[in-house]
Amino acid sequence: MAITIILPKYFSATSAGNAVRVCKKILDAEEDITLDASNLVYADPLGITLLGAALHDAFSWNLRVRISGLGEDVGGYLQRMDVFHGVDFVKCEPVKKRRRNRGDSLVELTRVDEVSDVDETAHRLAVAIVGRFPGIDPDEPPDEMSGYTVFDRLVEPIQYSLCELLENALTHARRGSHGSAFVWVAGQYYRSSKIVRLGVTDNGCGFLASLKGHPELRRKRHLDAILTALKPRVSCNRDLGIHDDSVNQGVGLTTVMRIAKHTGGRAVILSGNALHDTDGRSGSTPAGSIWQGVAVALEFRRDQLARTNFRELLPLVEGIPRIPLRFE
Ligand SMILES: Nc1ncnc2c1ncn2[C@@H]1O[C@H](COP(=O)(O)OP(=O)(O)OP(=O)(O)O)[C@@H](O)[C@H]1O
Ligand SMILES: [Mg+2]
Repeated sequence: MAITIILPKYFSATSAGNAVRVCKKILDAEEDITLDASNLVYADPLGITLLGAALHDAFSWNLRVRISGLGEDVGGYLQRMDVFHGVDFVKCEPVKKRRRNRGDSLVELTRVDEVSDVDETAHRLAVAIVGRFPGIDPDEPPDEMSGYTVFDRLVEPIQYSLCELLENALTHARRGSHGSAFVWVAGQYYRSSKIVRLGVTDNGCGFLASLKGHPELRRKRHLDAILTALKPRVSCNRDLGIHDDSVNQGVGLTTVMRIAKHTGGRAVILSGNALHDTDGRSGSTPAGSIWQGVAVALEFRRDQLARTNFRELLPLVEGIPRIPLRFE
């Protein structure tokens, strides 16, 4: 026996509620799954990481997953992203693996399991994304004053954002019964719109569980938990004494959101039954659909990235001005 799950037309941040609804069906499946992809035309890094996480769960239950009706364009893209590793293809256009001969600039779906891998992974992905910007030479000589190249300046805010999100997912998300949570990451540079899109999705405890009991969390609802986590200097660790072997400042998410805003970009955050979109509606995911964990989509405009210094966007430490005062 197998159940058929119909993939929506768009599997992306702009229709994140739909993507979560479908992923929930995959997560709830108790028998083999046939994904009907005949309507699917577009998936972005957020959609890809959600799908990757949901399929991983199905495989961990030894379910067999087939996909049918996948069109050549979107199918080729998703295959290059390694989303369908382990999935059987039926009634699909034959998809050739054409990793390098297209202008779109993908960074394959990657699962990260260990905190010790975060720095290296974030650096590798950021370099891979910026390496696909046309006209940027990684080997140009550095600026004499700053010691930085344009390439370094472009890499830095992407790398910082990935580090913060991956580290959150491999620490905070692993609370309670979620000790073996994983995180999936994917990224893409869209040449025509000059936008970088990232997706980072974990299957951990979610914001509400990690901030439960935090004095800033007035109502125990998923949306309130997302908005509380985004406030500067809110941290489960610092304020609630969780993980007391290390001290977090509660500045990572705030700074990542500021980077997205500073570059003229946007963020979409999912957790539980809540969806926060910095560009539009925030509220609930479609009835009955929840994401157990946290999924974050980030968008950066390439033109603004080199002018974005994350250190200047870090929230102030109480009482310490960002620029040292001079008394002369
Ligand atoms: N992926 C996640 N899963 C569960 N809870 C999370 C996740 N990411 C963040 N949080 C919650 O949101 C809070 C704020 O996150 P943020 O990254 O801003 O601060 P922090 O990680 O505590 O400190 P810092 O980032 O400065 O080291 C966290 O302390 C945690 O309670
Ligand atoms: Mg953090």
